Amino acid sequence: MIHARITGTGSYLPERILTNQELEQMVETSDLWIRERTGIEQRHIAAKDQLTSDLAEPAARRALAAAGKTPADVDLLIVATTTPDRIFPSTACLLQQKLGIHGSPAFDIQAVCTGFVYALSVADKFIQTGAAKCALVIGAETLSRIVNWNDRGTCVLFADGAGAVVLEASDTPGIISTHIHADGAYESLLTTVKPSAENDLNPAHLADGTAFIEMKGNEVFKIAVNTLGRIVDETLDAAGLTAADIDWLVPHQANIRIIQATARKLDLPMERVVVTVNTHGNTSAASVPLALDTAVRDGRIKRGDTILLEAFGGGFTWGSALIRY
Ligand code: UT7
Repeated sequence: MIHARITGTGSYLPERILTNQELEQMVETSDLWIRERTGIEQRHIAAKDQLTSDLAEPAARRALAAAGKTPADVDLLIVATTTPDRIFPSTACLLQQKLGIHGSPAFDIQAVCTGFVYALSVADKFIQTGAAKCALVIGAETLSRIVNWNDRGTCVLFADGAGAVVLEASDTPGIISTHIHADGAYESLLTTVKPSAENDLNPAHLADGTAFIEMKGNEVFKIAVNTLGRIVDETLDAAGLTAADIDWLVPHQANIRIIQATARKLDLPMERVVVTVNTHGNTSAASVPLALDTAVRDGRIKRGDTILLEAFGGGFTWGSALIRY
């Protein structure tokens, strides 16, 4: 049987850092509230001229270099993003051009914060069936473009960045299993809305037709905690493993309290959980690969470790991946 293995990781964060103190000047909030309720201290924001594919490119190149591969080796390119450069061509095609890859399949996946887990699941299937041998899987976002900067309930949370992995065919796993789900019944709890005079005070936004994130945070929070608790059980059961077999939990970085709840559910000490929400904020599809790359590069995650990735987001969508690194 052919398995898929992660052979390289990479990530990129835009230079500009937006602190909680700066947000205090923009909306009625406080550094203390943001830290206590979310765990976020700062986040990175793309420059005016940086699009999602501009963040994805350095992340992709770093992952390729870590895997000892060149763009010419890539035979599948998937970008998970909620904030594509354009409606079309896909961000994957625009990135393909930037990387100088020609002819491989390239497409975007839209599953909001679960996007990277969805993309990993799809790429895993391509490799298992022999349809691809070297896949570049990326989560990249410029969420700052769809944040309503007048809404203190969301503008303190979301941020920009990109993370990437190279997946290659291998005799041994690799990706042990992936589990992806969705339920559109919850679409209204976390969605995008066209601005109106009531929900956006910036007239420029009304003119350019941008849509903004709108979230019933408290309701999303409760469902996220329960759903992530269920999916980690589903994942461990499928592999016949227990939480004691997990070396690292690499969760979606939405809120430190959601991460802590999942760790408690697994009875996993926080020392075995990769946390980047404090410095990255919620980068949606980029958050899991950004956290994974952070822990690979700082030496915490080592070859042979068993890693559980999980994510939850708009849709609702949710998913997980069990990995032998
Ligand atoms: O990544 C996709 C999935 N997304 C998530 O998983 C996010 C899930 N939700 C959350 O992380 C949390 O619900 C939030 C961080 C968004 C909000 O935290 P919370 O503890 O659920 O607060 P809340 O919405 O229940 O609001 C509590 C209070 C409210 O004031 P009142 O009504 O009690 O007077 C809010 O208006 O906190 C107020 N509030 C704020 N205060 C200061 C909301 N945002 C802020 C803010 N600064 N930025």
